[in-house]
Amino acid sequence: MQINGQTRIVGIIGDPVKHSRSPQMHNAAFNHLNLNFAYIPFHVKPELVGEAIKGMKALDIVGLNVTVPHKIEVMKYLDEISPAARIIGAVNTIYVKDNRLIGDNTDGCGFVRALVEDEDITIAGKNAVILGSGGSARAIGHALLKEGINRLIFCNRTVSKAEEMAISFQTQGAAFVAGMGITDGMSEITHADILINTTSAGMKQDDPLLIDSGWLQEGQVVCDIIYSPPRTLLLQEAKKRGAIAINGLGMLVHQGALSFEIWTGCPAPVEIMRKAVDMDNNKWI
Ligand code: ATR
Repeated sequence: MQINGQTRIVGIIGDPVKHSRSPQMHNAAFNHLNLNFAYIPFHVKPELVGEAIKGMKALDIVGLNVTVPHKIEVMKYLDEISPAARIIGAVNTIYVKDNRLIGDNTDGCGFVRALVEDEDITIAGKNAVILGSGGSARAIGHALLKEGINRLIFCNRTVSKAEEMAISFQTQGAAFVAGMGITDGMSEITHADILINTTSAGMKQDDPLLIDSGWLQEGQVVCDIIYSPPRTLLLQEAKKRGAIAINGLGMLVHQGALSFEIWTGCPAPVEIMRKAVDMDNNKWI
């Protein structure tokens, strides 16, 4: 697609931003659908986040994705925050509607879509354990509760954070929600239908497993939100034990697809987007 006088601009702000796979993912989708949009990476330093957001209206930017470390900071510069983003406490997608800047969060919904649409997994009535209690854990926890999960346990290195997370979710839906330490979660992990790692443990080659691999079960769904490397030690161990191992590529693609749909109003070409970011040719499973 050639940029011309009518090209609409979307993009991503982060610090750093050069590692992001979102530009290639969205631009591939725009090309495929012949939409006159361009997706640009913007390296925005923390002290200039407010200026960047204010500039959106001035520059007629259609929307932005927001990545680390700005997902919380941007909220104070927006006119409106969606219910999901408010509960999650972070924004990953901004769009303009009626000259108002609106913040949304597609991370949790993207995770759920990856499970349901790519892997045909049912969430309603299942028991899940989330490793970690940060922003990603909150987004995924919220989305799982919306889908009707039956039991949701947060296991975290800092136990108090897991407990606080669980308390904050206790008023939502009929599910049983609790927080505990990782070792205390042995029985919960062993009996979980779905286990999700939302921590960064596994990104580095020599990161040790957070749990005992003997806790993993045949038939369990074991997810890692990490997509690089494509097979973390957790996923390798899960696979060895006959579990269904799912990395973070699907979540990356679907959170992007949801942003794409918000900005363009068109159904996202999910497979084109997946192909554009799947540098490891995700065929290892
Ligand atoms: P994100 O927004 O990606 O979720 P975050 O909010 O910084 O990132 O949260 C990271 C989570 O991963 C936290 O729950 C953190 O545990 P603590 O609360 O104890 O800090 C967890 N985490 C990160 N690295 C970890 C490691 N090496 N081992 C165990 N937990 C880890």
